[in-house]
Amino acid sequence: MKIKQIEKLKTPKFIQQIESTLKPLEFLERCAKNYGDLFFTNPFGNLETLVVSHPQDLQKLFNPTNKILDAPGTVNEIFKPQLGENSLIVQNGERHQKQRQLIMPPFHGEQMLNYGQQICDITKQVTQHLKPGETFIARHLSENITMTIILKVVFGIDEGLKFENLKNLMATWLGLTSSPLSASVLLLPFLQKDLGAWSPWGKYLRLRQQIDEQLMAEILARRQQVQPLRFDVLSLLMQAEYENGETMSDAELRDNLLTLLNAGHETTATAIAWALYWIHQQPEVKNRVLHELQGLNTPDPIKISQLPYLTAICQETLRIYPVVLFTFPRITRSSVNLRGYDVAAGTYVTPCIYLTHRREDLYPQPDKFQPERFINRKYSSYEFWPFGGGSRQCLGQVFALFEMKLILATILLNCQLKLEEKAPVTPARRGFLLGPLGGVKMSRVVNTRVSASN
Ligand code: HEM
Repeated sequence: MKIKQIEKLKTPKFIQQIESTLKPLEFLERCAKNYGDLFFTNPFGNLETLVVSHPQDLQKLFNPTNKILDAPGTVNEIFKPQLGENSLIVQNGERHQKQRQLIMPPFHGEQMLNYGQQICDITKQVTQHLKPGETFIARHLSENITMTIILKVVFGIDEGLKFENLKNLMATWLGLTSSPLSASVLLLPFLQKDLGAWSPWGKYLRLRQQIDEQLMAEILARRQQVQPLRFDVLSLLMQAEYENGETMSDAELRDNLLTLLNAGHETTATAIAWALYWIHQQPEVKNRVLHELQGLNTPDPIKISQLPYLTAICQETLRIYPVVLFTFPRITRSSVNLRGYDVAAGTYVTPCIYLTHRREDLYPQPDKFQPERFINRKYSSYEFWPFGGGSRQCLGQVFALFEMKLILATILLNCQLKLEEKAPVTPARRGFLLGPLGGVKMSRVVNTRVSASN
């Protein structure tokens, strides 16, 4: 077989960096058009990385029996100042696998289903404050809901001053890095200079310190007063044991609580804001999902999570504009041939979710929001993969989809909303994520009963 050569982008590196930061989708689409399914870029300075998005290549690379890709935590060191050195995201090899096995169970199976009613109740509580006729930003609403879920369901911190304090602190801390410009302080280590409490990095570190102290105080209080009937994620993690019988240290618990907050709060909130946009932008989608929801005799969490059209809406939302464009970087352990192209061992690889989700051969008219695609066809995990793949695949993916469906269903069943956007909403980078520009303006309709034909 003739070996083909993978092309490198001809654009100068610094232009690639600027374009991929400011206009990531246009940049990726142009690269795919000019260079095909495999190309080398330099989006992070001098490091050259191979962008992969063809389902056959993903299958070959992610296939667990091949063991071609390594997903070392050392390439995620950029997250250390944010998440701490004990975070799952910066762990390597065996340590990463062991920590994952410990953190995973509360986010799956029966344990997760126990959180369903709590998620619906929190959504009702937060949405009841929406005033009829007043415009609000959908992303602010969904962030408020997912933050409350993280605090109550994951951290196990309920109402009261402690809850309010921590919620405000975390919202301010995350807000410091939510715009493309302010997020550059996380992406570019040379900007990480503590020049006092008013400098961007100084402020960031001091807030993190305050959050750390509150989390540590909570962990210590729980250790002193063990309550066996608590089922929040922190309580379960405090009891979980590694194979050698050891449990997580306080610092491990603290850093992984921050990891779950950072990985799970804004991602899910952004996906929900997009879903609310699409549902209200297309009346036939809204009608169909309301019919489905109102067909349930008792809208209990398990039944809601099994509804096919609601599920398809969530999938299509995550397909059309995946909240995360790329997985974490990977490195090839051995050389590999991808559809005739040779890739050397030791190559940095960046699997690109967005480009797979925009393939015409998989998704005809890829820029159209059509949930029916997911009813009419079953996509493989190399064709539809908003949560990444392999050994670092999103740990919260089952929980995130469950949460999305319950939050959307509760909102749709309890209040009638209206889109207040005059023009189509476009995607824009928000820190590490891709979200709707402006967050989607909506309003609550004055005193109307929710019904499918509205
Ligand atoms: C719609 C919501 C979400 C999306 C789109 C999303 C997407 C992703 C992606 C693409 C990755 C990287 C996977 C890879 O490199 O292959 C990831 C990793 C991760 N996600 Fe999510 N995520 C979401 C929600 C959540 C939630 C709710 C949690 C937990 C509460 C969570 C926890 C994590 C963790 C801990 C990792 C790192 C896994 C590791 O390093 O082993 N995510 N997520």
